[in-house]
Amino acid sequence: MEVIIRPNIDHAVDLVVKLIVSRIKEKPDTTLGLATGRTMERVYARLIASGVSFAQCQTFNLDEYIGLRHADPNSYRSYMKAHLFDHVEINLANTHVPDGSAADLKKAARDYESLIADAGGIDLQLLGIGYAGHIGFNEPLSSFKSRTRDKALTPTTRAQNAEMFGGDADNVPKRALTMGVGTILDASELVLLATGAAKAAIVAKAVEGPITSMVSASAIQMHPNCKVVTDEAAATELQGREYYDFVFENEPEWKGFRCAEN
Ligand code: GLP
Repeated sequence: MEVIIRPNIDHAVDLVVKLIVSRIKEKPDTTLGLATGRTMERVYARLIASGVSFAQCQTFNLDEYIGLRHADPNSYRSYMKAHLFDHVEINLANTHVPDGSAADLKKAARDYESLIADAGGIDLQLLGIGYAGHIGFNEPLSSFKSRTRDKALTPTTRAQNAEMFGGDADNVPKRALTMGVGTILDASELVLLATGAAKAAIVAKAVEGPITSMVSASAIQMHPNCKVVTDEAAATELQGREYYDFVFENEPEWKGFRCAEN
């Protein structure tokens, strides 16, 4: 794992966007794993501004609420259209979001796994992190071998996402269809972006804490090609800061990513 700490949100987002764009330029038919949440809104805005073409890409979103129609403004399908798909060159038929409105959720989950396998797996998986330590909607005690399935959301997560549902956690759906931790770990590369002081404690647990299903995000420690990108505020509880900065300053891979203000 590499931890890259940037001076502020804009620089953290910039680095993630540069990385995604460079992967798509190297491999135009990249299969992307996409995430939702407020943190990602900035990433998608910059990706749109970059002008990169997703024409040959396939995309797979991590998760979707159960019980919302596709067209519901709070569905993650709507989120992706509003924040990315409607503004870039992309074939909508190649964009996939778990079907949280399916009558048979077990089948929808199996079908989603098959689609990912048919695409040859995910090349680059983008991740956010929830206060409950989730990646996707893998709440505490999600098995590290879990695959796409439906999952009950924690009160912490429903409170975190209440803003999008009129500020009332009771309006947030109780369940979601989410890629499993095992599904996520199968991606060739993981990039987790976390910003803001409110994420500092959970970032430290995920990156440096014990690997435990109580913090699903700690599973990323087992991934051979994982980058965690934060701003200063989200990095304040990390113990190994000095070493992470040294690696970022010296690894040839990051040459084009170190900006003048660095
Ligand atoms: C939702 C998503 C997660 C994401 C999280 C972060 O819960 N299901 O995949 O990591 O939001 O949200 P935010 O960026 O708003 O903090």
